[in-house]
Amino acid sequence: MVTNGIIIVLAYLLGSIPSGLIIGKVFHGVDIREHGSGNLGGTNSFRVLGKKAGLVVTIADILKGTIAVLLPFIFGSEDMHKLIPGIFAVIGHMYPIFAGFKGGKAVATSGGVLLGYAFPMFIIMLIVFFVCLYITKYVSLSSMLAAIVAVIYSLIVWDLALIIVVSIMSTFVIYRHRANIKRIINKTEPKVKWI
Ligand code: G3P
Repeated sequence: MVTNGIIIVLAYLLGSIPSGLIIGKVFHGVDIREHGSGNLGGTNSFRVLGKKAGLVVTIADILKGTIAVLLPFIFGSEDMHKLIPGIFAVIGHMYPIFAGFKGGKAVATSGGVLLGYAFPMFIIMLIVFFVCLYITKYVSLSSMLAAIVAVIYSLIVWDLALIIVVSIMSTFVIYRHRANIKRIINKTEPKVKWI
């Protein structure tokens, strides 16, 4: 019981590590919250800090979700489903205690949860994301489409824990993209040039 509580707190703290803020400030002297979309995620890091920093931030944000899923195993907890700390890492990523509770849009860290729990699903979501990105050039739209397809996929494989957790994560993803949805409708959402 105590161990499970520690795992949840650690998962939230892990998710709270603001990779984009750290890489931006330490290596570029830039607070990415004051530039681009103002988001603390990988996409805005690519936009503001460049490809190398964007990639590092994206990988770091993915790893937060993957490591969180491994925490029950690391702590030897047998009664905690490994998707539970995954959810808390995603919450930490969106509302980080280390960055004034203003974080990312749940995409990379949710992807990391899938990477650690359902690898084939992670690969399929990556394919959906990049095909959509290639066609539309919108990262936000591609993220939301992958989130919707993830729910459909979880229903097809019929893993109840996965259905619940993916539904929660995908709801987070769509909710956090409210401003992007408005910009897509207004045709003011920036398109990526590098794909
Ligand atoms: O992962 C976030 C992405 O889908 C959108 O980011 O910075 O364009 O709002 P941004």
